[in-house]
Amino acid sequence: MRSGVDASCGLSGLRTHDCGGLRADHVGHEVRLCGWVQNRRDHGGIIFIDLRDREGLTQITFDPDICGPQTHAEADRLRSEWVVAISGVVKSRGENVNTALDTGAIEVFVTGLEVLNRSKTPPFQVDGHSKVGEEVRLRHRYLDLRRPGVQQAMVGRHRISKVIRDYFDERGFLDVETPILCKSTPEGARDYLVPSRVHPGEFFALPQSPQLFKQLLMVAGYDRYMQIARCFRDEDLRADRQPEFTQVDIEMSFVGMDEVMAVTEGMVQRLWKDVLNVELPPVRHMEYADAMLRYGSDKPDLRFGMEIVELSDWAATSGFVVFQRGVENGGVCRGFNAKGSAETLSRRNLDYLDKQFVRDYGAKGLAWIKVVDGEWQGPAARNINEVARADLAQRLQVEDGDVLFFGADSKSVVEAALGAVRVELGVKLLGLTRPDQWEFVWVHSAPMFEFDEGAQRWVSIHHPFTAPYADHLPLLTNDPGACKSQSYDLVLNGVEIGGGSIRIHDPQVQAQVFQALGIGPDEAQAKFGFLLEALELGAPPHGGLAFGLDRLVMLMLGLESIRDCIAFPKTQRATDLMLDAPSSVDDKQLRELHIVSSSPSSKDSSAL
Ligand code: AMO
Ligand code: AMP
Repeated sequence: MRSGVDASCGLSGLRTHDCGGLRADHVGHEVRLCGWVQNRRDHGGIIFIDLRDREGLTQITFDPDICGPQTHAEADRLRSEWVVAISGVVKSRGENVNTALDTGAIEVFVTGLEVLNRSKTPPFQVDGHSKVGEEVRLRHRYLDLRRPGVQQAMVGRHRISKVIRDYFDERGFLDVETPILCKSTPEGARDYLVPSRVHPGEFFALPQSPQLFKQLLMVAGYDRYMQIARCFRDEDLRADRQPEFTQVDIEMSFVGMDEVMAVTEGMVQRLWKDVLNVELPPVRHMEYADAMLRYGSDKPDLRFGMEIVELSDWAATSGFVVFQRGVENGGVCRGFNAKGSAETLSRRNLDYLDKQFVRDYGAKGLAWIKVVDGEWQGPAARNINEVARADLAQRLQVEDGDVLFFGADSKSVVEAALGAVRVELGVKLLGLTRPDQWEFVWVHSAPMFEFDEGAQRWVSIHHPFTAPYADHLPLLTNDPGACKSQSYDLVLNGVEIGGGSIRIHDPQVQAQVFQALGIGPDEAQAKFGFLLEALELGAPPHGGLAFGLDRLVMLMLGLESIRDCIAFPKTQRATDLMLDAPSSVDDKQLRELHIVSSSPSSKDSSAL
């Protein structure tokens, strides 16, 4: 039985109880239950079924002496996933208590059976045990949703959303809904577009986030806004990315970074307490530049050590030409010590990391040294002179049984490659993580911009409405790369679960930022004129943050993918297998929308 729920709620008519509610003290009661047949067992004339609804399972017993031969014969025809109503009497199972079930102390001896609906043989077994491929599960998601594991995720998600809403409500936050049909927003992914029938050739964009609306709500004086908001981004998908996902979006006026971080950290602490019964310590803070140096990532996974160390000065005199060249070319040399991993890491593992894994990050290789019985082994070892070896031993605290890894290349390549190797080792190859680890960190003060080599221009690391530190304002024009932002991302176990910033509320500063991004006054006016105008009509200082709700739920419930906590998710290829969407539409609809399609449907059969 759901705790705190009135037992009669929704149970009038066909049923008196749900399938998870009967206990020993119901023995002797006459009851009516409805649900799905999980399975049927015939034990020498007595037929048992497990009847299931989302509250649980109850054993139902058809004894011909009690239910009569006709009902018994009907019971014999029942199959998995048929929907039935039964009436009967609760009896104790005596010695045969099933401790695995909440209802395991009792069974219901049937006096009446009504088949409410039949089911074809389902494409997969709806129980907790069978391994079923994701494609068939998503195609029949309503069956998949009947499975206990998926149901638990849905119930968990409901509970998490409820705690979040209560937390913000108690602090005076106002839940305001913002439009779905809107204008291109600046989170940096591709937009999903919706053609306008009324305005030929013009399009709405679905919101990548409610960013600009929540800023406008601050201008409107609606201090302390929150929304559990649906967002849409047409980007390459991964286990923690969906084209349509949900944010816990908040914004506050007259605040600095510390206040936004404190309020949102409080939400996380409350969630862990109420949902997982875990008291979290205060979240540590790390500057972006520090995270990039020590972990090679803006979302450091702090569940294990293996901190990356700057070795450029050492590399110059190391004697190893690969390292020397990397530094001479304006790059860096960095490395880290995978302590005590020499026995675990096979030659195959090391070759894989060196010859395959790091190449995806643009690296030319991954030099490594294995220290076994005082001997330094591996391709890099023989090239490093004695003095450099002794120096390195100190810098990386080298002992027998360690494996050292090195990257020498441009800063961004070394960061990306070593950062990824560190995580690959910690999470996969060395298995250094445990399920009950909750390593949070605020990564703050990212640079305002990074240089996009491809486009040859500065792009925002957060979004163009993020405020620089006041004393960095002159850098906006003099040295954009050195200008730091008042930004903060919340990272949990190496996953970015939330991000936000203090916003620009001064139209002059906003214009300067657009300028630095190469957005001229005309383009700024066309795209964001409404915001610029609002900033001139009494905009308070403000800031906020958005959590990725799906990611939060995934991590809290120990799920592997955010698909596991979304009722009707899309595949990695951004399709809905159940609906068969996207799909072509008829010519009439296209004509009404003033659209001519130049390509046939591009669907192929490899749906995932
Ligand atoms: P940002 O783009 O960092 O910030 O998004 C906030 C959080 O949303 C989650 N997230 C996603 N989750 C699932 N699928 C996706 N495709 C996806 N993309 C992002 C992440 C991320 O931390 N408007 C700003 C927030 C602000 O400044 O207040 C924004 O959207 O967990
Ligand atoms: P070599 O002496 O050429 O066999 O190379 C020694 C090791 O250095 C090999 O494991 C290479 O993959 C690795 N290596 C090559 N280039 C780099 C680089 N830029 N950074 C780190 N390791 C590298």
